[in-house]
Amino acid sequence: MDKLVIEGGIPLHGDIAVSGAKNAALPILCAALLTSDPLIVHNVPHLRDVTTMLNLLAQMGVSVSLDESEDMELRASNLTQPVAPYELVKTMRAVVLVLGPLIARCGEARVSLPGGCAIGLRPVDQHIKGLQAMGATIEMEHGYMLARANRLKGARICMDLVTVTGTENLMMAATLAEGTTAIENAAREPEVVDLADCLTAMGARIHGAGTDVITIEGVNRLHGARHRVMPDRIETGTFLVAAAATGGEVRVTGARSGILDAVLEKLRETGAQLESGPDWIRLSANGALNAVSVRTAPYPAFPTDMQAQFMALNSVACGTAMVTETIFENRFMHVQELRRLGADIEVEGNTAVVRGVPRLEGATVMATDLRASASLVIAGLMAQGVTTVERVYHLDRGYERIEEKLSRLGARIRRARS
Ligand code: EPU
Repeated sequence: MDKLVIEGGIPLHGDIAVSGAKNAALPILCAALLTSDPLIVHNVPHLRDVTTMLNLLAQMGVSVSLDESEDMELRASNLTQPVAPYELVKTMRAVVLVLGPLIARCGEARVSLPGGCAIGLRPVDQHIKGLQAMGATIEMEHGYMLARANRLKGARICMDLVTVTGTENLMMAATLAEGTTAIENAAREPEVVDLADCLTAMGARIHGAGTDVITIEGVNRLHGARHRVMPDRIETGTFLVAAAATGGEVRVTGARSGILDAVLEKLRETGAQLESGPDWIRLSANGALNAVSVRTAPYPAFPTDMQAQFMALNSVACGTAMVTETIFENRFMHVQELRRLGADIEVEGNTAVVRGVPRLEGATVMATDLRASASLVIAGLMAQGVTTVERVYHLDRGYERIEEKLSRLGARIRRARS
C-alpha cells in the first residue's frame, strides 16, 4: 500500500491544470449503456474510480478503447451481462449508476445493493422509488436488486430529498421511456448538467437540468455522440484551499469559476485574494487567515466534498469556525487525524468546532475516505516537519497524480511504499 510523505511549511506557487470531473465522468461513462453506437468521451480523468467503472462496463460487454489523444470510445453494441456484482459495488457506490441505463436499454438489471460506507449509510431508496414510478419491478434477492421492465413509462417523480446520483440514474432511465418524465426536487449540481448535455448530444430531450425540475421526453433510441467532461470543481477547490493554507499563490487553469461560487466566497472570507478569467482562477494569500464557518448543503450551497479541506484550513486560522455537515451523517472521520497533527477540534452532533492553533506538527495519519485524505494532505503541507499520510488509495480514487501536481507547485511531497 502506498503512502505520501510530505515536508510541510512551503507556500505553493505556480500554475496547475485541473482534470476532468470524476463525478461527471462516472455517470457519463454509464450513459454509453443507452446506445449501441459509439460514445466518445474527452477529458476522462485517470482515477481509480474511473478504472473501476470501466472494468464493470467491460464485464457487461461494452468495448472500451483509447486513441493517441486519450479520447475514450465506448461501444455498448452487445450487452451480454447486465449485472453489477457486489465485489465492484462494495468498492464504489457510484456503480449503482448503471441501474437506470440497464433497465431502460435491456429491460432488466441485476445490481448489488450497496452496503454501508465510510461517510454514511447512503441508501438508494430514491433511485428505486423513481424507477418503480416508471413501471419497473424491483425485487431484492440475496443482496441484489433485480429490476425488470418491458419499457419504462414516463412519470412524475418527486424526490424526498436531493440526491445527485439518484437524479442522474432516473434522468438516464427516462431518456428511453415512453412519454414524459418530470423529476421534481432534482439535484442542481453542475455534474447533472454535464450528464444532461452528453445525453442531449446523444439525442435525448431534456429540459431544466440545473434547476430543481428536470423534464425528459422519452425517445425510441439514442445515438452516438462526442462529449468533453467538465473540469473538476472539487479538485479545483482543493488546490485553492491548499494555496490559501500554505500562504501561496496558485493559478488553477482549465477551471470554471462560475460553478464554485460558494467555495470562492468562503475563500475570500479567509482574507485570501481571488481573481478569475474565463478558464482560470488565481488565489493568493500571505499571512494569517480568518477562520470561516461553513455549512454543507446541495448545490449551489457549500459542497460536502469541500468540507474536510476547509476543516484543515480552519485548524490554523485566526479564530473559531463552525463546520456543519448536513449531507452525510459520518463525514468527520478526518477530525481524529487532524487532532493527531495538533488541531483543536470538538465535534458536537453534526457540527465541528474548530479553534485555530498557531501551527500543526507533522505525524503519521491515516486516510479514511477520499476527501478526508485531501484534508490530511493539506494539513501536511501546512504542518511543521514530516507528515505521512497512509492509505493513499483513497486519494487515488478522486485526485489524478496529486503528488506530481503539488510538486510542480513547489511542495515537498513524495509517494512511498508503506
Ligand atoms: N440518500 C438517500 N436515499 C437515496 C439517495 C441518497 O437517503 O436514495 C441520501 C444520502 O444518504 C445522503 C444524501 O441523500 O445523505 C445525499 O446523497 P447523494 O445521493 O446526493 O450522494 P451520491 O449521489 O451518492 C454524489 C457524489 C458524492 C457527493 C454527493 C453529494 C458522485 C459519484 N458522488 O454522491 O461525491 O459527496 O453526491 O454531493 O457523484 C466524492 O466525490 O467524494 C463524493 C462522495
